[in-house]
Amino acid sequence: MTTLNLHRVLPLKRSLADVFRYLRDFDNIEQWDPGVFTAERDDSAASSFALELNVLGRAVPMRYTLDVCEPPSAQGQARLVLTGVGDGFTAVDTLTLSATGEATCTLVYRADISTADVPGLLKPVLNCWGERLSNAAMNGLKAALENDGPASPGMAERMAERLVLPGMINYTRRGYRQMPSRGLSRYVDGANPQRIGISGVTSGLGLACAQQLARLGADLVLVGRGTDRLAQAAAAIRPWASHAIRIDCVEAELSSIAATRDLAEQLIGLELDVWINNAGALFDEQALTADGLERTMAINFVSPALLTQALAPSFARRGGRIIQVVSGGLYTQGITLNDMAFTNELFNGPKAYARAKRALLDVSQHWAEQYSNLGLHIMHPGWAATPGVASALPDFNRRLGKRLRTPRQGSDTTVWLASHPIFANGHLSGRFWFDRAPRPTALVPGTATSATDRQVLLSWYEQQISS
Ligand SMILES: NC(=O)c1ccc[n+]([C@@H]2O[C@H](COP(=O)([O-])OP(=O)(O)OC[C@H]3O[C@@H](n4cnc5c(N)ncnc54)[C@H](OP(=O)(O)O)[C@@H]3O)[C@@H](O)[C@H]2O)c1
Repeated sequence: MTTLNLHRVLPLKRSLADVFRYLRDFDNIEQWDPGVFTAERDDSAASSFALELNVLGRAVPMRYTLDVCEPPSAQGQARLVLTGVGDGFTAVDTLTLSATGEATCTLVYRADISTADVPGLLKPVLNCWGERLSNAAMNGLKAALENDGPASPGMAERMAERLVLPGMINYTRRGYRQMPSRGLSRYVDGANPQRIGISGVTSGLGLACAQQLARLGADLVLVGRGTDRLAQAAAAIRPWASHAIRIDCVEAELSSIAATRDLAEQLIGLELDVWINNAGALFDEQALTADGLERTMAINFVSPALLTQALAPSFARRGGRIIQVVSGGLYTQGITLNDMAFTNELFNGPKAYARAKRALLDVSQHWAEQYSNLGLHIMHPGWAATPGVASALPDFNRRLGKRLRTPRQGSDTTVWLASHPIFANGHLSGRFWFDRAPRPTALVPGTATSATDRQVLLSWYEQQISS
């Protein structure tokens, strides 16, 4: 048996309570340890975790259990002990926290790793590898807790982005892993818990986003179709909260203008801090809604636009935030003002979807300019494995397989925009975000929307909702 003992002391500029809470949800390790590809909780008590370690680029499974969990004491001490078991190795991680001030603490990290016997000559190599991994993990944890503001893409990433296709490689898990900081630890409970509403919670990104927001302590308003499915979503979200949170469910069919108006009325009455327009869909076939609108446009553009327009004045008064989940696919299309409903052109699902998402981006930027105290943030999630992608794009889903982001990774930027204090009171409003960095809105020549086109688009939208 060979043993490796690692020891690090990490001063942190975050309160003991926040750091303890963040580390106690050990699946967050995916957000700060570059030696971990993915981490998921195995049980609703969040005391067993399945990890995929990144061992020289290969995914190696490991399972952790939380054996000791001593929350912050009156003396400002807290401790967590986790035991990990992999194929041929075990690790005991001890994390001891001591408060050093109201908003600072120190983490003492100790890992005792045992593996099958390693030949003497290789021991220094193993030691060196362990030291490097633990340094990277501690740097990642510090960044996750202290430097989790907006990122600035480097020169190489900006150039790849400009070439569209090379930039799209980062829409996979690769982009998520390359983000300099991925921590989600801005808790939104406290004396006045944030009230956050989100559509499309019965599946995919919406469900994962609501689970993360529950973990951060938000009270939630879940919007979806079908009472039973909403109740199932609420049951899948509740265990993520560390204490009782309030969850309300509202049913709405978002292809209908009347139902969207009803929903807007209800949401205004609920005085939300954040509203997330997440519901969306891509269809193979052209169809009209009961209102006579092309269905892709209705769900991905007209309905979220109507909700945004209705909520904007009251949200602006209170410094609230509205988040639009659009798609990187919008880079491939400009808006086509002479044929928004594909009446003269052969219907193409991905094109219709991309145009609708671009239209939502355009009108959102218009309203962001109109309301100075409103935080209107537009984001795209990259490519994530969700039921929506599996059914709308089966070949794409199969080809990319494990390279697609998990729903949790796909919803990262949405959760960050909803919870980070930097976005309070309209700060940084109107930008288009991907992986926590502001991005250009058009990359392909001829796809940018001019100021005049934006006005025509707004008139077209007004006609749709008034007819
Ligand atoms: N996954 C990706 O890679 C990706 C990439 C770019 C953008 N996006 C965007 O991310 C958002 C979430 O997508 P997803 O991948 O998580 O898809 P998903 O698994 O299909 O989830 C979509 C959600 O939207 C709801 N929804 C669809 N049509 C609706 C309607 N007419 N009325 C009410 N709710 C409706 C669905 O409800 P039902 O369950 O009742 O159908 C579901 O809860 C969408 O806006 C999508 O365009 C996703």
